[in-house]
Amino acid sequence: MNEASIWDRLAGRYDLLVRAFDTSYDRVRARIAEDVPAGARVLEVASGTGQFTAALAAARRRVTATDVSPAMVERLEAALASAGLTTVEARVMSAYALDAAEASFDAVFCANALHVMDDPARALAEFGRVLRPGGVLVAPTFLHGTGAARRALSRALSLVSPFVARTRYDLDGLVAAVGEAGFTVIRAERMPGLFPLGYVAARR
Ligand SMILES: C[S@@+](CC[C@H](N)C(=O)[O-])C[C@H]1O[C@@H](n2cnc3c(N)ncnc32)[C@H](O)[C@@H]1O
Repeated sequence: MNEASIWDRLAGRYDLLVRAFDTSYDRVRARIAEDVPAGARVLEVASGTGQFTAALAAARRRVTATDVSPAMVERLEAALASAGLTTVEARVMSAYALDAAEASFDAVFCANALHVMDDPARALAEFGRVLRPGGVLVAPTFLHGTGAARRALSRALSLVSPFVARTRYDLDGLVAAVGEAGFTVIRAERMPGLFPLGYVAARR
């Protein structure tokens, strides 16, 4: 099964399921206001149903919101229409092959997705390609690798839950992955949750 079809099957239940994990989502929305400049051209990758898209679109940011799953994008479009968000364009797109020119965005935002991707290094390389020099990457990511007990919980959950972590990061591992992709990390913060959230902001 490819990555899109897994998430297509989940899309109808996503907004309900995500409530088990969204403890720090308001804190992420507050950080967006600090770290993503007003007026920026923003590419959102792996938007899902749009948990953060309205926060990105605030402050006159122009947002291209994308996801590999057509069913997720369909739900995102419905949410955008009911919120009256007209400055956001929604598109089906893989993080591994972004349909965007080099250096065409001021900011890339990718929430809670690097850990579920088969090849996060490939996605990070694409984020670097489409960001202008000095542009900002914001990538809050669930940390499934913070200690033996949480690793065991993550492994057990992956047998019964659709949310499977392919990389079990701790905060240092996430920061290292972003650094290895050529970014300079400017903020790294661990936020609370059933699985903590590693909030990382970095410059290209
Ligand atoms: C846990 S959800 C996160 C959704 C949203 N960003 C949030 O924080 O609620 C992971 C999302 O990543 C998307 N995804 C997985 N692999 C992807 C890829 N290779 N390219 C683009 N999106 C991908 C899935 O379709 C899904 O919508």
